[in-house]
Amino acid sequence: MPIPERLNPSFGPAHPPVVDLIEDARKRLIVALDMPDAVSALALVGQLEKNCQWFKVGLELFVAAGPAVIEPLVARGHSVFLDLKLHDIPNTVAGAVHSAAALGIKMMTLHAAGGPAMLAAARAALDGVADPPELLAVTVLTSMDQAQVNDVGLGRSPAKQVELLARMGMEAGIHGFVCSPQEVASLRALTGPEGVLVVPGIRPAGTAIDDQKRIATPAEALRLGASYLVVGRPITQAPDPAEAAEAILKEMAEAL
Ligand code: C5P
Repeated sequence: MPIPERLNPSFGPAHPPVVDLIEDARKRLIVALDMPDAVSALALVGQLEKNCQWFKVGLELFVAAGPAVIEPLVARGHSVFLDLKLHDIPNTVAGAVHSAAALGIKMMTLHAAGGPAMLAAARAALDGVADPPELLAVTVLTSMDQAQVNDVGLGRSPAKQVELLARMGMEAGIHGFVCSPQEVASLRALTGPEGVLVVPGIRPAGTAIDDQKRIATPAEALRLGASYLVVGRPITQAPDPAEAAEAILKEMAEAL
């Protein structure tokens, strides 16, 4: 299935005019709305929407506010990434994917570790759906380092586990992946330009690492082949979130 152009900004013209670079950066920056309720999330969107076009609704906000929180975002013309990291039996995940597609979201996540049958069922659930969301398989969480990968009994390096899951996902017809900055170059080599590579664990130089382990700056992640960057706390917890987003967009534009 060809990747819609809107979801694959990675390989545009070789040298776009400088004025377009901030616009290009804006299309690739996803702000993680990891907030406890809809009121604070929408207030933050209000502060950021001049600069940012993509917003990620994850577990914290979705569990607190439900699908209703997505409606005002879509109504204001924003692109919504629903990050629920589904991982269940194929029938259950297929049903959840079908329900999510009706919300007008553009991307959503499921765990590659759910296996080929789960991934294939999720894809099949979008057959016949108009303007379906891109399915992104999460490989290894960016908060997992070697010690934690060992603790869950995987017995291989995070990099090898990411590659194994990505190959499996591609065989199941998935072209989008969430991965850490450390694996993005090898995943790009694996998927080619069609891959939609969404990369969290982004930390501008000098900001707090928090609980992330495998991180990179915005510029590094783009140079390594990321299609989209997911940034949460470096923007949402900044004293001035709009200013923090602007600085990240500038850094991204310089790397493009
Ligand atoms: O605040 P921070 O920038 O660390 O937020 C990163 C976001 O990306 C969080 O919403 C987290 O759930 C998400 N994420 C991640 N690692 C993954 C997949 C998603 O950190 N592998």
